[in-house]
Amino acid sequence: MDSPLILALETTCDETAAAVVTRGPAVLASVVASQAELHEKFRGVVPELAARAHIERILPVIEETLRKAKISLSELDAIAVANEPGLSGSLIVGLMAAKSLALATGKPLIAINHLNAHIYACQFDELESIFPCVGLVVSGGHSHLYRCESAFDFELLGGTIDDAAGEAFDKVASMLGLPYPGGPAISKVAEQGNPQAYDFPRSFIRETSRLEFSFSGLKTAVRYAIAGTGAVDFSSLDLSPQTIADVAASFQQAVVECLVAKSFQAMEYTQLKTLCVGGGVAANRVLRHKLAEIAEIHGVKLCISRPDLCTDNAVMGAIALEKYDARQFETLELDIRAGLVR
Ligand code: KG4
Ligand code: ZN
Repeated sequence: MDSPLILALETTCDETAAAVVTRGPAVLASVVASQAELHEKFRGVVPELAARAHIERILPVIEETLRKAKISLSELDAIAVANEPGLSGSLIVGLMAAKSLALATGKPLIAINHLNAHIYACQFDELESIFPCVGLVVSGGHSHLYRCESAFDFELLGGTIDDAAGEAFDKVASMLGLPYPGGPAISKVAEQGNPQAYDFPRSFIRETSRLEFSFSGLKTAVRYAIAGTGAVDFSSLDLSPQTIADVAASFQQAVVECLVAKSFQAMEYTQLKTLCVGGGVAANRVLRHKLAEIAEIHGVKLCISRPDLCTDNAVMGAIALEKYDARQFETLELDIRAGLVR
């Protein structure tokens, strides 16, 4: 069978990314233009700034990707774009770029669900198909568990009822005076901390039939632990390095325990044998270690996307190859679906 060349675009949040992917799945080239420095001083993504930055970066990123892949637009077989879910202003930039390229070249247009793609990133290190599996997506905007029968069949089993795990990392980092994005910063200082120093809540952990997460109470518990219950200017808190490390380690431990417990409750519920984990928070070393430990005990096959494919990238858009093979193409009427989680 021939190997189609697909240009995948990713602009759902604050990374402007493009990749050329082919069967394997394999990558010919990948470019990610991070906006972290733009949002750092706000300690979180500012949607309007993100959208504007995507507009400035999308064409140079596409050009650089094609140059690295040593191919021209006319050699592509399809244009794929993540059109759900994400920030509206950000999604639109990628979608408009993809539609324009599809219209100009006459190549088919393929829609990518960003969350499904995060799980599909695991396929890069597997020889066999990852399906069927339970998929856990833990990112800055989402924390969701899926039953994944195939690349086209993702059933949402449950998700967070308030904050996403990554969002909690980012907010707690901000309270502790650590930089954005908070996940890597917290995990670094947590190495010097005691994960048992604070007894933070683990929501629903013993409700085994409830496949949901809640991290907002945990965030509040951290706030009370470091600043008491009154209104506070976090920048005026004078926390010792050891306190910061202990809070970070205890917070990280609580998040990890919730994610691990619910993932294996989902394995039990579905009776599936493979667990695939993706999204920015999946880069967390303590989470990866704990998942591996419990997977071994339960005899579960664990696939965690490699660290460089955990945070947003366009390589994971290789899920579009499956749609290409099934000839699942879109018309130029394709729209964004910002809030929809499927
Ligand atoms: O998947 P992603 O790049 O973007 C979204 O789709 O949201 O995830 C970004 C999130 C951020 O909240 C960041 O703090 C978190 O992933 N993150 C981590 C780590 N690396 C990134 N969280 C915990 N530990 C990490 N090592
Ligand atoms: Zn993401």
